[in-house]
Amino acid sequence: MMLQSFATAIFMISAAIQASGVTVPITDALVHGLVTINVGAGNYMLIVDSGSANTWVGAKTPYQPGPNSKDTGETVTVHYGSGNFSGKVFLDNVDLSSELVVSGQSIGVAKTSTGFNDVDGVLGLGPSDLSSGTTSGGGVVPTVTENLFTEGAINSNLVAISLEPSTSTHEGEIIGEISFGEVDSSKYTGDINYTPITLTSPASTFWGLDASFQYGASRANVLSTTAGIIDHTTSLLLLATDAFKDFQKLTGATPDTNTGLLKVPSTETLESLFFQVKEVTYEITANALIWPRALNSIIGGEAAGIYLVVGDHGSPSGSGLDFVIGYSILRRFYTVLDTGNHRIGIATTPHTHDTTN
Ligand SMILES: *[C@@H]1O[C@H](CO)[C@@H](O)[C@H](O)[C@H]1NC(C)=O
Repeated sequence: MMLQSFATAIFMISAAIQASGVTVPITDALVHGLVTINVGAGNYMLIVDSGSANTWVGAKTPYQPGPNSKDTGETVTVHYGSGNFSGKVFLDNVDLSSELVVSGQSIGVAKTSTGFNDVDGVLGLGPSDLSSGTTSGGGVVPTVTENLFTEGAINSNLVAISLEPSTSTHEGEIIGEISFGEVDSSKYTGDINYTPITLTSPASTFWGLDASFQYGASRANVLSTTAGIIDHTTSLLLLATDAFKDFQKLTGATPDTNTGLLKVPSTETLESLFFQVKEVTYEITANALIWPRALNSIIGGEAAGIYLVVGDHGSPSGSGLDFVIGYSILRRFYTVLDTGNHRIGIATTPHTHDTTN
């Protein structure tokens, strides 16, 4: 979990949605997705985070230990771009669905947390090394995915995440799924193209990859091949400052002080942004570059304003983490976070070219 531009736009859902099979539904909280899972004797709504590795509960609904709950005596603290939590480490059973049960999962139980007002905690899908140094016991905390694999509940040590753009302002609608241990071929089009996790630090500690970005039919260079990451809890597409400025020039966008986003006067001149991973090019359509207009008021924008989902990462390119492909963009693609093969898969979906704005 990295930067969060709209940390306040987190919404509750009323109904708990319990899954069966190897997939778990994701509900929409506008700037990230949520899953509802059982931990111990309780049911919790957790943020789906591919940018951190600790799974924890208790921010809102207090932790209810199950019969197999074990207090390890360790403490845990995790700092995020937009908050933190601190508490105790328990081992307990986690039921993601009827088929996906982990026994003895290390979970955090929050004593204090900041920035998690309407959710219970986080499902950390990041590489487990991201948990290094978070617990008093030291070492790395295996993720839920890794434990599912070790315990034989899934055949491959991976998760695949499907999302789609929202067609309404109805928070809590199901807009995707996490598929544990296998890909769901009904959720993508064409092939999944895989790329190894980047060797460039610090992107290499996340779901990091090497990619370049080009704008428009002329394919004007925005960012030459460099390392960045995929993060389902960053709301926007963040680019290194120099690339962000180039994107701003190419689109003619201006910063809007009310929303903190870029704004363009009309959609007419807006073109697609492309990103290339090895020899494969993916299109982020002009429509996908626009913040959902139905949600303009939530971010303090004008109802008819055209705001863009591209933001400034705040450091110059060459920092080792030059872009973050966040939730707004990931709603148009299928992603495979493949721990076992140390690689990331990306595919287009039936929604890559949707016109929702
Ligand atoms: C979490 O963040 C808040 C607000 O920035 C801060 O006051 C608190 O000390 C932090 N807690 C931890 C455990 O770092």
